[in-house]
Amino acid sequence: MVQSMAKTKQAVLKLLYENRDRYLSGQKISEIIGCSRTAVWKHIKDLIKDGYRINAVQKSGYQLIGAPEGLNEAALSAGLRTEKLGRHIYFYETIGSTQKEALVLADEGAADGTIVITNEQSAGRGRLGHTWQSARGVNVAMSMILRPHLPIEQTPQLTLITAVAACDVIEKVTGVSCGIKWPNDILFEGKKLVGILTELQAEATYVKAVVIGIGMNVNTDPETFSGELASRATSLKKITGKTYDLVSFVQAFLKRFEELYMLFLKEGFPSIKPLWERRATSLGKKIKVRQAGGKTIEGIARGINDQGVLLLEGENHRLTRVYSADIEWS
Ligand code: BTN
Repeated sequence: MVQSMAKTKQAVLKLLYENRDRYLSGQKISEIIGCSRTAVWKHIKDLIKDGYRINAVQKSGYQLIGAPEGLNEAALSAGLRTEKLGRHIYFYETIGSTQKEALVLADEGAADGTIVITNEQSAGRGRLGHTWQSARGVNVAMSMILRPHLPIEQTPQLTLITAVAACDVIEKVTGVSCGIKWPNDILFEGKKLVGILTELQAEATYVKAVVIGIGMNVNTDPETFSGELASRATSLKKITGKTYDLVSFVQAFLKRFEELYMLFLKEGFPSIKPLWERRATSLGKKIKVRQAGGKTIEGIARGINDQGVLLLEGENHRLTRVYSADIEWS
């Protein structure tokens, strides 16, 4: 019962988002949602208490004119133009890690395309055991659950697709052209804007689910990047001086990711490779590759192969394939 009240409230809110340019009568809302007019009025009062600004005009009805800062489930799903991705949303006002939660949900059978998203992440996880900091209400912290029919060795390619989608959307929305440092750091002038973490649930030869976590520094205040962080990270707000609507940002990202993902599933990684290479910042440069276990090798990054594996040219022009590592300019 409590669950269905919450769902009805979300449905009312979603309807208001979808009709932001007009008034909707209580009668119409109750007909569409399938609840009484009294229930509609109760949910409207509740939403106003939550911080939504809703005009209520006799004979005209209700119109949403403002919302609390940050993301919410109804706003995300109201304008979403994807087919599958984000059609199931688990939204949390605050959570330890969307990635951890998505892995649990994937294990419990969450549908392909489910997303887990939050306004505040208190224990964000990064690659190679690092942590990921994300201030409340200003950034994107989201994990996507995908169930592709792919051999395990091809799943790292999904990380590269995510990186391309993030760069494309950043450029489209803000005009900022950023680069990808293999495999998945998105940088602007050498400073990190987006981090991607891909994790698998698999049996010996079969991928049950892939969980891709994305952290984007969108509206983080420039002052946040003081001290040591100033040389390593940045945000779109710091770069452009502007604040962006997080809901449209996430929707645009999901749309672009889905387009590229569909292309990849249909035509394979060769269709994505040139898009990734166009954004790559390390190609042709001398780099240092730090592999798990601490082993470091140096060479020139020559590109990626059709599997998305980095090709490193060492001494005597010998090419080494690098499957997973952190890279630095040397
Ligand atoms: C990196 O180390 O660069 C990857 C960072 C990935 C952070 C994202 S934020 C959403 C999702 N939830 C997490 O706990 N981590 C990922």
